[in-house]
Amino acid sequence: MYNEIDLDKVDLSLEPPSEEPMRQYYFIKKARKIVEEESKRLGRRLTADGETFGCQMNAKDSEKLIGILENIGFEMIDDESADLVFYNTCTVRDNANQRVYGRLGLVHSMKKKNPHKKIALCGCMMQEQTVIEKIQKSYSFVDLIFGTHNIYKFAELLVAMYSSDRMVIDIWKDTDKIVEDLPAQRKYSFKSGVNIMYGCNNFCSYCIVPYVRGRERSRNSKDIIREIEKLVADGVIEVMLLGQNVNSYGKNLDEPMHFAELLQEVEKIEGLERIRFMTSHPKDLSDELIQVMKHSKKICRHLHLPLQAGSTRILTAMNRRYTKEQYLELAHKIRREIPDISITTDIIVGFPGETAEDVNETIEVVKEVQYDNAFTFIYSKRTGTPAASMPNPITDEEIKENFDRLLKVVQETARKRVGRLAGQIHSALVEEINEHDNTLVSGRLSNNTIVHFPGDASLIGTIVNVKLVEAHGFYYIGEQV
Ligand code: 5AD
Ligand code: SF4
Repeated sequence: MYNEIDLDKVDLSLEPPSEEPMRQYYFIKKARKIVEEESKRLGRRLTADGETFGCQMNAKDSEKLIGILENIGFEMIDDESADLVFYNTCTVRDNANQRVYGRLGLVHSMKKKNPHKKIALCGCMMQEQTVIEKIQKSYSFVDLIFGTHNIYKFAELLVAMYSSDRMVIDIWKDTDKIVEDLPAQRKYSFKSGVNIMYGCNNFCSYCIVPYVRGRERSRNSKDIIREIEKLVADGVIEVMLLGQNVNSYGKNLDEPMHFAELLQEVEKIEGLERIRFMTSHPKDLSDELIQVMKHSKKICRHLHLPLQAGSTRILTAMNRRYTKEQYLELAHKIRREIPDISITTDIIVGFPGETAEDVNETIEVVKEVQYDNAFTFIYSKRTGTPAASMPNPITDEEIKENFDRLLKVVQETARKRVGRLAGQIHSALVEEINEHDNTLVSGRLSNNTIVHFPGDASLIGTIVNVKLVEAHGFYYIGEQV
């Protein structure tokens, strides 16, 4: 893993090395000089701010970008008035894109007052050619654009940006490269996301992810284990293994390995207390995985199992490659084997041609599976995906009605399901002081439910036993026992 000493060996009088990560160490050192000079000129430290949209993958990528910025000498602040702002964007639904354009309007007026201010854009939205064209045309004040495949090059790109008056753009269509051993700044000291794979090969017909995150690439298990061991040595007790489709982990490795086997290896790491993972595709969820979860002492009692739709007709059009019956059978099997597990899901309403009857089938599935939580989304047309050219005779009003009907059932079932533990004692990992009441701390149960209870900052990062006194919808009020 990255360590400071490596930079002392870097000689800036030479040409930058061509191999990674040495090349990036070179540019980190070079960027440090630029930031130092700029700080001297301004008589203060340069500040930077990172704004992250979208999923856990993006959150993890932002930790890497922030790690590089801090290493270069920026002071990170949580304010878009900073000397450098990066937006790590999401494009899974159009409203995420619209939010970025809104924010760009805001920082443009700030940049007019501070011409030295730099604005960088990265992430999934930047992998779309139409977006790049729009930014070049209407947001020409942006200084740097890069994509999802080259975030490890941030230092090099910053050096290019500070040496140029023009917009620097570096987008790769795809990559088979995985560059490790660069600095990263973790948001929490006691828990961390760990990428186990990148990209997606599923091509669900509504989804833009395979186009913007590229083909599926698994990391070598030894590298993953080594990273987690280092994290544990650094105080981490919970990891979240991240991938778009973790159940197909290992297929493209030189020595193929199943996800269930990787989990068993991770379980062996001493000092690691909890293991989570995200996201599972139902079509690839193996019996071995269920057995490994069942017998594990560390894998949390939570499975996020996106349903997307409950009608087999719509599932087929979505290219999900399972039927309603297969999904239900899988959910029942999981509940039978691991009765205390919580299952959560993602559901899309308004996929082209989805009728009220189709949504009734989704509602049936929700009632039968009894999700602890379900994230419901209105379908958003993504240019370039197969679903974008499917005719959709359903009106927006009908879609909204179907969505509201589903949401009501989702909320009712989740409330009942989450509340079932009232009166019991469970262990919770304390994550933070409660946002609204600083006499309380907020912790997470193994099954991902939140509990708030009296406590102070000394508990943060520890696992304690909590009595779940009262259920309040999606969370509990409890007391430490
Ligand atoms: N429209 C609406 N929701 C979508 N998702 C993915 N693509 C779209 C889209 N085009 C949802 C899926 C996925 C979650 C991360 O986002 O439910 O599981
Ligand atoms: Fe998108 Fe489907 Fe891949 Fe998930 S599995 S990222 S929904 S294509």
